Amino acid sequence: MILFKILSLLCGLTASVSLVDAASYVVEETPPQDAAPPVLSPFVSFSIEFVYFPDYAGNKTEPNSFSNQLLENLGEIQGVRPHIRIGGNTQDYALFNSSLKTSINGTYIPSKSTDYPYIIYIGPSYFESYLMWPNTKFSHGFNLAKNSSHNTQLLLDSVPFACQALSHDNLLVWELGNEPDDYKNAIQGALRPFNWTEKDYVHEWFNRTAALKKQMNIHCPHLADAKYMAPSFGGIDGSLKALTTWQDGLNDAGNIAFDAEHNYMGGADEPGVTLQKTLMNHTAVIQNAAQHVDFMKSLKSNNLASDIPYILGETNSLYSEGRAGLSNSFGAALWGVDWNLYCASQGIRRIYMHQGTDYRYAAWQPISTNKTTIGTKAPYYGNAMVAAMTKGGDDVTIVNIPLEQDTESAYAAYVDGKVTRIAVISMVEFNYTSIESDTSSNSRPKAQYSFKLPDSFKSHQISVQRMMANGSDAVTGVTWDGFSYNYELENGSPVRMKNVTNHETVQVDRDGMLVIDVPYSSAALVNLQ
Ligand SMILES: *[C@@H]1O[C@H](CO)[C@@H](O)[C@H](O)[C@H]1NC(C)=O
Ligand SMILES: *[C@@H]1O[C@H](CO)[C@@H](O)[C@H](O)[C@H]1NC(C)=O
Ligand SMILES: *[C@@H]1O[C@H](CO)[C@@H](O)[C@H](O)[C@H]1NC(C)=O
Ligand SMILES: *[C@@H]1O[C@H](CO)[C@@H](O)[C@H](O)[C@H]1NC(C)=O
Ligand SMILES: *[C@@H]1O[C@H](CO)[C@@H](O)[C@H](O)[C@H]1NC(C)=O
Ligand SMILES: *[C@@H]1O[C@H](CO)[C@@H](O)[C@H](O)[C@H]1NC(C)=O
Ligand SMILES: *[C@@H]1O[C@H](CO)[C@@H](O)[C@H](O)[C@H]1NC(C)=O
Ligand SMILES: *[C@@H]1O[C@H](CO)[C@@H](O)[C@H](O)[C@H]1NC(C)=O
Ligand SMILES: *[C@@H]1O[C@H](CO)[C@@H](O)[C@H](O)[C@H]1NC(C)=O
Ligand SMILES: *[C@@H]1O[C@H](CO)[C@@H](O)[C@H](O)[C@H]1NC(C)=O
Ligand SMILES: *[C@@H]1O[C@H](CO)[C@@H](O)[C@H](O)[C@H]1NC(C)=O
Repeated sequence: MILFKILSLLCGLTASVSLVDAASYVVEETPPQDAAPPVLSPFVSFSIEFVYFPDYAGNKTEPNSFSNQLLENLGEIQGVRPHIRIGGNTQDYALFNSSLKTSINGTYIPSKSTDYPYIIYIGPSYFESYLMWPNTKFSHGFNLAKNSSHNTQLLLDSVPFACQALSHDNLLVWELGNEPDDYKNAIQGALRPFNWTEKDYVHEWFNRTAALKKQMNIHCPHLADAKYMAPSFGGIDGSLKALTTWQDGLNDAGNIAFDAEHNYMGGADEPGVTLQKTLMNHTAVIQNAAQHVDFMKSLKSNNLASDIPYILGETNSLYSEGRAGLSNSFGAALWGVDWNLYCASQGIRRIYMHQGTDYRYAAWQPISTNKTTIGTKAPYYGNAMVAAMTKGGDDVTIVNIPLEQDTESAYAAYVDGKVTRIAVISMVEFNYTSIESDTSSNSRPKAQYSFKLPDSFKSHQISVQRMMANGSDAVTGVTWDGFSYNYELENGSPVRMKNVTNHETVQVDRDGMLVIDVPYSSAALVNLQ
C-alpha cells in the first residue's frame, strides 16, 4: 500500500466555525505496483441516445453550435475531444426508411415510455449528424433486436449511409445491439423468447456482424474490418451472463475492440433513493463498481478478453433518465467526479456518460423543448473536472486514496509515472435551500485534508482549481475553475465569473505537507506539476 494514513483524526476549528476532521495521507512519487492500467485517452466520453442524436448534433442546415462548443471545451481541457457513442434503447427500435425526408420519424407510445418514441424510422439525413462535430470519433449503434428478414434488409440498406458518413476518419468502432441481456425481459416488451440463451446471442452476433461486413465490403471496404464495442450488457449477471457470453466465443471472429458494459447507481423511481445515500456516497460508488471489478477478475482468471480494454459504454446516475432534483443537481456532478475517478482507479478505462433530450441526468440540454430549456446543466461541470484530472496522454493512472467516510474521497493522478494531481471531493450534503431557511446556521462547513507529498514538492507554491456551487441542491450557478459554461453567457464558451475565487494557490510547507480546505459539497483539484 503506497498511500496510507499517517495520523488519525485531529479535531480543530476553522475560521468558518465548523468542527473539522483533519487526517493526513502520504502520496508517493510513483504509482503503486497494484495500480490499475492507465486510462484511455480520451477518458471523458459521451453516449447519446440514438433518437436524440440529431437534437444534439444538428444537421447541415442547422448545426448545433452550442453542443459543439461544450465538446470543444472538454477537448481543450482533456487534450482530445470526447468520443461519442450513438446508441441506447432507441438504437434497437430504429428502422431505416430510405425515402423519409426528415432525420427521424418518431411516434410515442406512452404505455412504453414518455421519455422517447417507441416507433422510430430514420432517414438518410439522420447520418448528416455524424459530420457536425470536428475531430470527433464516433460509434454507430446498429439494431440487433429487430431481426425479421424484412427488418434485417432495412438495416443492411442503412449501411452505405452509415459508412459513408463515418468515412472521414471519424469512426472509432461499430456497435450491434443495446443491452441484449435485457431483451427477454425488457420493460417495454420482450424482444426475444424466454429460452433465448448466451449461445443464441453469440450465434446472432456472428450472423449479423458477418452480414454487415459483407455489405461494408461492397460500399466502404476500408471500414469492413472496423471492430465493435460489445456486448453492451445492462448488467454483468442479468438474464444473460456476460462471462458465459465470452466463454461461448463472442470474440471468436476477433471483431471486438472494447468490452463495453453499462451501469447505473439505481433507478429514478426506486424507493429510498436520495442524493446523499445513493449518489454522494463513496461506499455506494465502490459497491456499484464491484460487479465490474469482480467481472474483470473472472475474465482474467478465465483467460478471456485479455487484450480488450474494459469500458463503460453507457452510464449515468439513475436509470430511467434520472430524477429531477437529484440527477440534475450539483450533487450529481460531485457523484460524477467520484464515479468516474473511482472507476478509472479500478481499471475501467473510458467512460461514456449517457445523454438524451429532456433527460434529467443530462450534462446539457441541446435544444429547447416544452419540458426543458436549452442549457448547460450541473453534471457538465463534473465532466470538466474529470477531464482535468485524466488529461495527459497514454500514461495516466488514477489511484484511489482511501479516506475515512462515505461522504468524502480523494484520488492521485500519475502522468508518465509521476504524481501530477490530487483530487479531493467532499460529498457531505450541503443543501443551501434548507440552510437559508434556517437562520441559526448560515455558514458552510469545510473539511481539511493534509497530504504528505514527495520531497521534491517541499515549499512549492501549488495551484488549486475548484468545482463549486452554492450547495449540493444547486442546479445553476455552478463553476469549474471559476468558469461558467452557461448557454446564456456565451453559447457555452468558458466565461470567468467575477464572484468566484480563481487562480488560487497553496503553499506546501518545508516538510512537504500540503493542507487544503474543501467546503462541504464541493471538490478541489491540486496541480502539483
Ligand atoms: C417512409 O417514408 C415515406 C416518405 O415519408 C413514407 O411515405 C412511408 O410511409 C414511410 N414508411 C414507413 C414504413 O414509415
Ligand atoms: C435539420 O434540422 C432542422 C432543425 O432541427 C430541422 O428543422 C430540419 O428538418 C432538419 N433537416 C433534415 C433534413 O432533417
Ligand atoms: C411516421 O411513422 C408513423 C408510425 O409508423 C406513420 O404512421 C407515419 O406515416 C410516418 N410518417 C412518415 C412521414 O413517414
Ligand atoms: C431472430 O430472433 C429469433 C428469436 O426472436 C431467433 O430465433 C432467430 O434465430 C433470429 N434470427 C436471426 C437471423 O438471427
Ligand atoms: C423456445 O421457445 C419457443 C417458443 O417461445 C419454441 O418455439 C422453441 O422451440 C424454444 N426453443 C428451445 C431451444 O427450446
Ligand atoms: C444469417 O442467418 C440468415 C437466416 O438464417 C441466413 O439467411 C444468412 O445467410 C445468415 N448470414 C450470414 C452472413 O451468415
Ligand atoms: C452510503 O451507502 C452505504 C451502502 O449503501 C450505506 O450503508 C451508508 O449508510 C450510506 N451513507 C450515507 C451517508 O448515506
Ligand atoms: C411537447 O412537445 C412534444 C414534441 O414536440 C409534443 O408531442 C407535445 O404535444 C408537446 N406537449 C405540450 C403540452 O405542448
Ligand atoms: C434541499 O432542501 C429543500 C428545503 O428543505 C428541500 O425541499 C429539497 O428537497 C432538498 N434537496 C435535496 C436534493 O435534498
Ligand atoms: C448563490 O449565493 C449567492 C450569495 O448568497 C447569491 O447571490 C446567488 O444568487 C446564489 N445563486 C443561486 C443560483 O442561488
Ligand atoms: C455568481 O453569479 C452567478 C450569476 O449571477 C450566480 O448564478 C452564482 O450563484 C454566483 N455565485 C456565487 C458563489 O455567488
